[in-house]
Amino acid sequence: LSEPNATPGPTPSPAVAGLTAYRVPKHGAPVDLVLSGNEGIAPPRALLTELAEADPELLRRYPSAAPLEAALAERFGVHPAQVIVTAGGDDALERTFRAFLAPDRSVILPAPTFVMLPKYATLVGATQVPVPWPGGAFPTDAVLAEISEDTGAICVVSPNNPTGAVATADDLRRLSRAAPQAVLVVDLAYGEMADEDLTPAALELPNALVFRTFSKAWGLAGARLGYAIGPAELIAWLRAAGNPYAVSGPSVALGLLRLRAGDDDVRAYVAEVRAERAALTELLREAGAEVPDSQANFVLARFSDHALAQWLHDAAAGLGIAVRLFGEEPPELRGCVRITCPGDAAGLRRVLHAIRAALQPGALVVEGDADHRALEVVAGQPAWYFTKTADGVRAARRAGAVPLGLEGDDAEAPEALIAAGAARVVSGPDALEGLLPAAIRGGV
Ligand SMILES: Cc1ncc(COP(=O)(O)O)c(C=O)c1O
Repeated sequence: LSEPNATPGPTPSPAVAGLTAYRVPKHGAPVDLVLSGNEGIAPPRALLTELAEADPELLRRYPSAAPLEAALAERFGVHPAQVIVTAGGDDALERTFRAFLAPDRSVILPAPTFVMLPKYATLVGATQVPVPWPGGAFPTDAVLAEISEDTGAICVVSPNNPTGAVATADDLRRLSRAAPQAVLVVDLAYGEMADEDLTPAALELPNALVFRTFSKAWGLAGARLGYAIGPAELIAWLRAAGNPYAVSGPSVALGLLRLRAGDDDVRAYVAEVRAERAALTELLREAGAEVPDSQANFVLARFSDHALAQWLHDAAAGLGIAVRLFGEEPPELRGCVRITCPGDAAGLRRVLHAIRAALQPGALVVEGDADHRALEVVAGQPAWYFTKTADGVRAARRAGAVPLGLEGDDAEAPEALIAAGAARVVSGPDALEGLLPAAIRGGV
């Protein structure tokens, strides 16, 4: 225990003092379908077996990313000096902010956008100039109006996270021309999923850097592999502004193996994602959410009432599915839930059912007997099941009904009901009346 008058301990720098660790809110129910992180599908298992045959020198020596940079340079038709491989796209973006921003410079950012961008701006003390981009066309005119002598960077995330909205090559050209002193950050983390690849257009611009990653369509988020491509002079500053050995030897080797395996499975995944996001968009709109057109592997559902967003998140967890709920910050994402495309037919069926069960239940059933026979009637139908037991919660999950714990003297502890998979523990069906569609509200 510290003494009352002890010398104060270390305190963070002013740039860090206002920040918190990146954290995604988690529900207590067990989850086996994770649609909260925008990751792609698993890569071929052969990648791991091939890696197991690598020379142990790979681990002994400090790594070199040069072979992967050369392979990527060939893929994109540029010189290897124009590519830097980094520890995820995150690392390349942070290097860029460190290299080109400062307390006397500003960065123009769409709002909302990828949460790490404002954070990197804060870390270097740059002024942030947010420009609203709720969905639809990129707000190029609004961004042009914000450009000043201090503008050190302009960010275009396309498709944008979390809306999936896209910019065009013409947007990039106009921005580049209007701010030659600024770096045009062209974040294409989800570029493989979009209709148009903005990489060639961006690479023609003297001040643009393209950011790409193996984390999404290529299914290697765990390897932490990303890269930036652009004019060699700009890439050289990114090399100067970070760790020399940011990417581990095994990750570089995995990247090379992944490229060598070809992109047939990536293309198949993207085709599947396109169909899935259309199905998710249609259902969420039908259920009353506002959903921007997305060209990424996720969709954003915006509810007029935050309670509905929170409920969809909880009900999905009750059915074993994690979706991304946004909280108080940033304010433009209050009432929003982002759902990643599962990438396979069974996962899609499950998440579509969960959305229907949460937002369009056809039946509200209160546990009648210990055998949960009422569940047989609603099995596979969108329904809510109220129960006092962990056994009832598990039975509801198996039947595809949103499990809700009931409070009461003869009920199991709320924590036990949540741990078994209950979406929530409530006093009775009336407690959730406000969440029901108006059409069936009277029937509770
Ligand atoms: C828009 C955007 N850019 C970059 C990244 C960084 O991804 P990674 O560091 O895994 O390459 C992400 C990850 O979520 C993202 O959404």
